Amino acid sequence: MDHMRIALLPGDGIGPEVTKEAVRVLDAAAKGFGFTVSTEEGLIGGCAIDRTGVPLPEQTLSLCKSCDAVLMGAVGGPKWDGLEGALRPEAGLLGIRAGLGLFANLRPAIVHGALIGASPLRPGILGGHLDILIVRELTGGIYFGERGRIKKDGAEAAFDTELYTAPEIERIARVAFNSARKRSRRVCSVDKANVLESSRLWRETVTRLHAKYPDIALEHMYVDNAAMQLVRNPHQFDVVVTSNMFGDILSDLASQITGSIGMLPSASIGSGTGLYEPVHGSAPDIAGKSVANPLAAVLSVSMMLTHSFGMTEASAAIENAVKKVLDEGLRTPDIAAGGPCVTTQEMGERVAACVLGP
Ligand code: IPM
Ligand code: MG
Repeated sequence: MDHMRIALLPGDGIGPEVTKEAVRVLDAAAKGFGFTVSTEEGLIGGCAIDRTGVPLPEQTLSLCKSCDAVLMGAVGGPKWDGLEGALRPEAGLLGIRAGLGLFANLRPAIVHGALIGASPLRPGILGGHLDILIVRELTGGIYFGERGRIKKDGAEAAFDTELYTAPEIERIARVAFNSARKRSRRVCSVDKANVLESSRLWRETVTRLHAKYPDIALEHMYVDNAAMQLVRNPHQFDVVVTSNMFGDILSDLASQITGSIGMLPSASIGSGTGLYEPVHGSAPDIAGKSVANPLAAVLSVSMMLTHSFGMTEASAAIENAVKKVLDEGLRTPDIAAGGPCVTTQEMGERVAACVLGP
């Protein structure tokens, strides 16, 4: 692609400052690799509630649909915590996932060599380099199932439902198997098939599809065991595929193993426009102080170049630039372990400079 139009949704808290640095790095990649970029901003989350009354204005969704990819910051903050479910900033995030049909959420948990000390796991457990890819189903399951308030035995009651169709399971499993082909060819499918009927369908469907991927080793694991194994021996995992809610929980667990949630990017993909965002939240306590780590947002741009544009060289150049600045010792406070720090902007500027040259 010669020219890419990016919908930029900075969102709340530290979202605007980290996405600004990500765009700086994207511009550098454009310069270095001979393409051009334009960004158009949209509102999502708390800032959208303040300006329009809803967390996902129609205009934002149509902007995203008309663009080649979406770069998002983060949504939410204490200011909007009191609002009812459908009007919370988080509803904007769920709305855009559904609206763009982003059924697959790729969350790599990677421990960079220079940051091994940041992991809460003992070095003996963590070993050297760790690289797990969580493939989370993103537009189905209990997040989008029927829910409500009822009376049961005269008491107030509430319910949420987990529902998956076989095609929904198949398409996310396909993403996992295809991802594994570019990695160590191992997939662990996580469910709760000893209790849940939806998990039994999940397991059957993944197993059936696996027949088409004889080169991939498939294992099934119950979610409670998977949580334990991730901490006990994370190296046994390569690609983990799981439902929306289990993926939400396990991806936070995996991110903490790396010790630096400020480093982790994510990609949400479907049949149309892909959305890229850091895994971390809006961190309102540090917003506007230039201390936020922009590397998760920067690495989200690298994922964008790979998944939306097939530009693997430009994508690798960003990853290498991030490695380089970490090896040089540049640190934002979250990864500095009390040592000297640079600002959000200095980090972004240095990565951008490294993308363009030595
Ligand atoms: C995530 C977040 C969201 C989720 C919230 C903010 C709705 O935790 O992206 O993991 O639960 O999916
Ligand atoms: Mg989460």
